[in-house]
Amino acid sequence: TAGGSIAIRGRLLWFDADPAEEGEGQAVRYVADGLVVVDNGIIRQVGEASVLLPRLRSETPVVDHRPHLVMPGFIDPHLHMPQTQVIASYGTELMEWLAKYTFPEENRYGDPAVAADGSRFLIDELLASGTTTAGVYCTTHPESVDAFFTEAARRSLRMVAGKVMMDRGAPPALLDTAEIGYQQSKALIRKWHGKGRLDYAITPRFAPTSSDVQLEACEALAVEHPELHIQTHLSENAAEIAFVREAFPWSKDYTEVYERFGLVRPKALFGHCIHLSERERAALAGKGATAVFCPTSNLFLGSGLFDLAAARAAGIKVGLATDIGGGTSYSMLRTAAEAYKVLALQGQKLPAFDAFHMLTAGNAAAMGLDNRIGRIAPGLEADLVVLDTGSTSALRRRMGRVETLEEELFALMTLGDERATVATYAHGHRVYDRSATRAKPLP
Ligand code: GUN
Ligand code: ZN
Repeated sequence: TAGGSIAIRGRLLWFDADPAEEGEGQAVRYVADGLVVVDNGIIRQVGEASVLLPRLRSETPVVDHRPHLVMPGFIDPHLHMPQTQVIASYGTELMEWLAKYTFPEENRYGDPAVAADGSRFLIDELLASGTTTAGVYCTTHPESVDAFFTEAARRSLRMVAGKVMMDRGAPPALLDTAEIGYQQSKALIRKWHGKGRLDYAITPRFAPTSSDVQLEACEALAVEHPELHIQTHLSENAAEIAFVREAFPWSKDYTEVYERFGLVRPKALFGHCIHLSERERAALAGKGATAVFCPTSNLFLGSGLFDLAAARAAGIKVGLATDIGGGTSYSMLRTAAEAYKVLALQGQKLPAFDAFHMLTAGNAAAMGLDNRIGRIAPGLEADLVVLDTGSTSALRRRMGRVETLEEELFALMTLGDERATVATYAHGHRVYDRSATRAKPLP
């Protein structure tokens, strides 16, 4: 039902500020026995169960998730819908991986049935992992966007997605043109943007697959729609960067290509950003753009190590994402665990509170959606994940030596995965239930 009330009881955890900036005391909100009261998909009250329960209307159902953690739904700012059958393809770096595995697969997504099936699978997998919002690349086919948004709307999810624009450097069947890409994007914006919880993102795949003329068409879209997200890739791989240097001889670096076409701005999400110069970092920060750290993908494709300390020092907004299917897990817990290791290799740290902040309020801010999602606060949308920190024998064993919430969270991110998801709520609806999944008979 669209309306209705529900109250969710458990160990509440969210972040009202960035613990890396403001310190834990200012940032971390924890209620050991808390209640979230939801009305028509919106969080109305948050607090101690002992205070709120007696005031609850008698008809409001209470779901008791104790002793589990209740957090804001995870947010994944960068992934590719048509790559659920590309994930775990062997033995290549970015440019060969695109040509050998990714482009042939994406070619199938002009078929609405294929796109519907892929969208359904992806969303099932995200919800089972506790992810309620994502920044999603579809394919060049408008049908792929229709399929994805249709499925997202059916589950009442807040999603950001767009049709990939590319007019060169891929098989002809996958290419649009500057004009066609513009017209198709325009039609999809009219059809989907702002419908329910859906937002359209202008999505040039990356500079190597767009001509100057197509990037001008992206610029026109961006100017006509200043409120829209933009999503693309930047500085992931050495061969990619060399290609951009050749293809755009007028540009002093990779970032300047996007700057020239007005694509570096707030709510512009740049995947990877591994091999940036200080000038490029300053440009991203100065224009309020976001860099998206994709650790499992960057390790899997051998792309390099994202320098979080440098990004933060430059003042860039940073998101943390799976990058399915260059990335190797749908789980934001696995993604946080790999982020920790990527940073460890550079002598940097990722405390558990920082990591869980990134998965929730941090990614909401990185996507410019922090007025809607990312915290458990009155007025925000009721997207929640319920997590079991004893979901596996390895976790339960480790918990025997855990003394603080921070230690518990660090063990959860390091050892946990989708098995830790007890339930997922989107807009107040329960959209995933572990007990229902487990009870399913084997096929
Ligand atoms: N750069 C351009 N397209 C892609 C993609 O699909 N995945 C990754 N990881 N990088 C890209
Ligand atoms: Zn990507």
